[in-house]
Amino acid sequence: MPTIVFASPKGGVGKSTSAVLLGVELARKGAAVTIIDADPNKPVSDWARRPGRPPNLTVRADVTEDTVIDEIEAAAQRTAFVIVDLEGTASMMVAYAISRADLVIIPTQGSQLDAAQAAKAIKLIRQQEKAFARQIAYAILFTRTSAAIRPRTLGFIQDEFRRHGVPAFDTHLHERDAFRAMFSFGGTLEALSTSQVSNLDAALVNARAFAAEVVTMLRRGPRDEAAPAEAGAAEMGADR
Ligand SMILES: Nc1ncnc2c1ncn2[C@@H]1O[C@H](COP(=O)(O)OP(=O)(O)O)[C@@H](O)[C@H]1O
Ligand SMILES: [Mg+2]
Repeated sequence: MPTIVFASPKGGVGKSTSAVLLGVELARKGAAVTIIDADPNKPVSDWARRPGRPPNLTVRADVTEDTVIDEIEAAAQRTAFVIVDLEGTASMMVAYAISRADLVIIPTQGSQLDAAQAAKAIKLIRQQEKAFARQIAYAILFTRTSAAIRPRTLGFIQDEFRRHGVPAFDTHLHERDAFRAMFSFGGTLEALSTSQVSNLDAALVNARAFAAEVVTMLRRGPRDEAAPAEAGAAEMGADR
């Protein structure tokens, strides 16, 4: 069953947040989900230890470079969706996880520095495509953007990705207090109360739109050859 890998060599871009939001939303829709917490800091396991984790969402931790592929394969047998949350570094673990992905999501904040890191992730995907002689679907996910305004720099970066044929989610995960609160309190967005966080409804709409777009992308499969990852990555500065 589909494996969705969150990868970016940069820490703090929203990988773990987006991975949990996706897992919770897929579980809410009734699917069995495994999140493989492949980050030694175990952010997803910390969330799962708090109350309110959906019963059909399992978190697997203590994953190593030697076991990550087996973990992904075993989870794919058991549950309808497998989500892998990775550490923000380039490692063999990241390469192995990408090699098994049906979709790699690259969370990116709207700065030029982040865009260059995203390009590095794309380069790694391309290497895994060559190593395993298969295409791997991927897309940039803009995170922590403002729901109200689109700064010039973000617009510029979006245009740059587009020009290089790098796919990106239409949905951005906006900067939302609720997305942080979910990690503080545990459980799902739905279970947060409006007295705990502001703008909960907007956060729910945002998370659902993101999960729906992930499902659409999984259905669509890898891009066509019109947008090779290599060209995009090289021109975006991954070689620098
Ligand atoms: N969309 C968002 N809205 C608000 N805070 C966010 C959002 N995404 C991430 N954060 C916060 O940013 C920090 C880093 O996010 P995290 O998901 O841990 O990134 P990564 O897994 O890439 O290191 C955390 O404190 C998290 O709560
Ligand atoms: Mg993380």
